[in-house]
Amino acid sequence: MASSKVVIVGTGMVGMSYAYSMINQGTAEEIVLIDINKERALGEAMDLNHGLSYAPRKMKIYAGEYSDCKDADIVVITAGVSQKDGETRLDLLNRNAKIIKSVVTEIMKSGFNGIILVASNPVDILTYVAWKSSGLPTSKVFGSGTALDTARLRYEIADKINISVKNIHAYIMGEHGDSEFVCWSNAYVGAKPIVDVIESMEQITFNDLDKIYNNVKNAAYEIIKRKNATYYGIGMTLVSITNAILSNENRIIPISAYNGGAYNIPSDLYIGLPAVLNRDGVHHVVNLKLSIHEQQQLVKSATTLKELLDKMEF
Ligand code: LAC
Repeated sequence: MASSKVVIVGTGMVGMSYAYSMINQGTAEEIVLIDINKERALGEAMDLNHGLSYAPRKMKIYAGEYSDCKDADIVVITAGVSQKDGETRLDLLNRNAKIIKSVVTEIMKSGFNGIILVASNPVDILTYVAWKSSGLPTSKVFGSGTALDTARLRYEIADKINISVKNIHAYIMGEHGDSEFVCWSNAYVGAKPIVDVIESMEQITFNDLDKIYNNVKNAAYEIIKRKNATYYGIGMTLVSITNAILSNENRIIPISAYNGGAYNIPSDLYIGLPAVLNRDGVHHVVNLKLSIHEQQQLVKSATTLKELLDKMEF
């Protein structure tokens, strides 16, 4: 039986929503919690351990140190400051870049040679920072990217046309942020292109597509305005990515992947692209045929990220 040890750096609400979802899905045999606040990590581990008699499998959960990363399969980084009402994800960049560099340096000191999954925002830029600081190949360092945005998109479409979200195949691509966009030209309901569905159904019109996109793009702002943070959606998204890796699923998920040239956009950056994930990390980026407008939106999003990266020192 392949090992399944996951280390979570950051025991805030995102990290703990992820841990709690993993436990209830029986995703990993061993879960290690690391936080700058060691007492908090210990308290979270104690609290989770008291639910293990109801968990779907035997698990080991403990508060640990960076040395525990050595034999981990995946280290998930959720540490950093999160958006406050009125802040964009990009506003967090300078504060969180320092944290990511420090965290990844400590992870690599342990002799870690697994996969690093970044969830901290702005995730595309911070995933690049993590990759640069790690010395690992690009296939083993990636971010949550637009996977959560894509889940939001699929929910909105499914809710509008009353079809199971499992039958909605559509992607948000680009920055996990204000320049993200919907790849409508590659959106399907079951095996039908969504354009055909719109023309044949009354519940949804082309105007609805704009409303759906805006609901997705603004989702985090709307949630933060009401409850000061988002964490359950991203926590469950991180579990789906973790399952794809640990179960060697070869599953296509739009993560923040290194663009080495798959799309005709600025390269040497991380950005939300559909990619095949398995036990070795990113097997390859899926190259979709985009409409002219979608290609323009992807170039705009990549340029936004590239301009920020070019101002940073590595
Ligand atoms: C959100 C955070 C994870 O979109 O950026 O909810």
